[in-house]
Formats: sequence, C-alpha cells, structure tokens
Amino acid sequence: MSHRLRVFATCDIGDALNILRSRGYKVEVYPNPEPPPKSLIIEKVKSGVDGLITTLRDPIDAEIFAAGNDTLKVVAQFAVGFDNINRADANRYKIPFTHTADVLTEATAEFAFFLMGALARKLWPAEHLTRDHRWSYWHPYLPFLGDEVTGKTIAIIGTGRIGLAMIKKCAGFDMNILCFDPAYENHDYIRAIQEVKDLRFQRGISRERATIRYTTLDEALRAADFISLHVPLLREGESATPTYHLINETTLRMMKPTAMIINTSRGPVVDEKALARALKENWIAGAALDVYEKEPLPPDSPLLDPAIADRCRLLPHFASAASITRLSADPDKGMAGRCVQGLIDVLEGNYGGDITKMPYVVNKEAFEK
Ligand code: GLV
Repeated sequence: MSHRLRVFATCDIGDALNILRSRGYKVEVYPNPEPPPKSLIIEKVKSGVDGLITTLRDPIDAEIFAAGNDTLKVVAQFAVGFDNINRADANRYKIPFTHTADVLTEATAEFAFFLMGALARKLWPAEHLTRDHRWSYWHPYLPFLGDEVTGKTIAIIGTGRIGLAMIKKCAGFDMNILCFDPAYENHDYIRAIQEVKDLRFQRGISRERATIRYTTLDEALRAADFISLHVPLLREGESATPTYHLINETTLRMMKPTAMIINTSRGPVVDEKALARALKENWIAGAALDVYEKEPLPPDSPLLDPAIADRCRLLPHFASAASITRLSADPDKGMAGRCVQGLIDVLEGNYGGDITKMPYVVNKEAFEK
C-alpha cells in the first residue's frame, strides 16, 4: 500500500476496528457516546481520511461529500437503514456507501415479534400491577385481559428481508398473514410459507389452516389484528413509492379499534401526532414503537402522555441491540464485521475493484458503466 489508509469512525464499533488496525490502517474513533457534531465530521473528512464509518445518527450529505472530494473513497454505514445518507449527493460525488444488511434481519424481526407479544399480553401494565402492590387477587378477568397472538391476523407492511423474517416467525404462531409492499413482492417466499402452513395443518400440528397472501394496503389495514411495519424510509422525491407518513390519520382510521401496530422500521413512516391521537381516542388499541420521528424521543412527545402509557410501548431504537448482532467482527454475524468488510472491499479494491460487484455497497447505480 502506497500510503497508510486512514479511517474516521463517528463512534466506537468495538473489536472489529482491530481488523483495520492489523492491516496497517490508521483508525481514529470519536470517543464519546453521543454523535459528533457535523462540523467535526467535515473537519475529519477535509483532513483527508479515506474511509468514514457512520451510524444512523450522522447526517451525511453534499457538505460531507464535498469536503472529501478526491480523498474520501467510502462511507461505511453501521446499520441496514441508510436514510441519514443522501444517496443522490453520494452519487453526484461518486462516493460509494455500504450498509450492514442481513446480519440484523432475524434480530430485528424477533424484536418486532416480542414487541407484539408484550403489547398483546399487556406485559408492561401487568408487571406494574405486581411491582406496585396492586395485585390483590387472582380473578378470571380483573383488572384486565390481554389478547392471544396465536391464530390472529397480522399485516406485514414491507416484505424485504426483515418483513420476510417476521413472516417466518408469525407463521410459527399459526397467524394468518396479509402482506403489502409498495415496491417489491416475493411470491416464491409466500408460496413456501403457505406450503409450511398447509403441512402443519395436515399433520395435526396446527388446529386450523392458516393462510398467507399479498393484498392492498387498505385491505391489510382494515382486516388485521396486528400491523407490523418493515419498509425503508423513503421521502417524497426519493422514490416512486414514498413511505414517509404511510401511517397517518387516514390509514389509522382504517384499522380496527382492537388493532395494534408495531414499528421497528423508521420513525417518520408513522405520523406520531396522529398515532398519539389514535391511541388516546381509541381508534386503535395499541402501539409498540422502537423508532421515532426524532431520536432520542423528545420529552414533550405526545407518545409519552401518561393517559396512553398502558397501550403504548416505547423502546430506544433497540431492535438490533443484541451483542453478536451489533459487535461480532465476523462479517456474516455482526454489523461491526460487515461494516468493516464493506469498507475494506472498497479501499482495497476487492472484486477486481468493481464497485458494482461489491455485496455491501448500496449505491451501485453510480458506478455502472
Ligand atoms: C437500525 O435501525 C438499522 O438500520 O440498522
């Protein structure tokens, strides 16, 4: 290598950074837990780093790419979602960016499933009852009951990797599954799941024959007991099928008063003000959120209204927060390993230096000949 490759990471991603160090890279890490100010990222990029490791907390746009013009060769995002990176700007400056798809698929889907369970079976209010010494007697229905998930209908909104993994988990609970995706339908997968459901029924493993099919957004929302969101955040102008505020007053009003919604995708897919109102006025029965329009959740968020606390679960963008998922240095297991491998692929010219062949690069379109 002619010059020592330099990398700036906007936060510590653990031992995987040693892979870079052992290859002779000079690695600088922003040491604090909070995100660095954008001005500092610009300063580091201006100083000539070859690679930038980012997270979903860092706004990466033309200002950053301009600062790295001629020197910055790759942005490696420690996340599967990349709505914090302006793709059009990256393409204009011809800077590839990578993400960490696949390694957090099962973790995120199981978290969505657990949120659904916690919400449906009222785990949070029930534990409070116990802790607050308000559990005075066992009673058939007092002070409240939850709802079973088994055999119910779930709408899966978004059938990319994580949506499909959620389908797989819901199939294990004999749920009927209505799928909607504004851009991409995987009929092979859905057929395979129906075959599994049929076999479970024929062999007496499931008591009833459950079904799965694609449908319209309206039908999915109107019929579902649970709705789980798995779409990427796409704003107006970024896609022919934007997902910004896909869940809004109109779509919330389509849902059954007993319906519960789970969001582990991106906060702005849901209009939070409308959701808080829907919970308060009982248009729907519950919501469990891991992501927000603004993160961390501001203290004046209507979602924090104590009047809806019993039916609104709020988690701190935690779905991929399992130790191997986040930190394994193995690129097939951990976001850290995959992030570092994506960076190495570009900086060391793997795949014959053909960016369009590199598996973790997102914006391949900017490099097609
Ligand atoms: C987490 O939200 C991610 O996109 O990886």
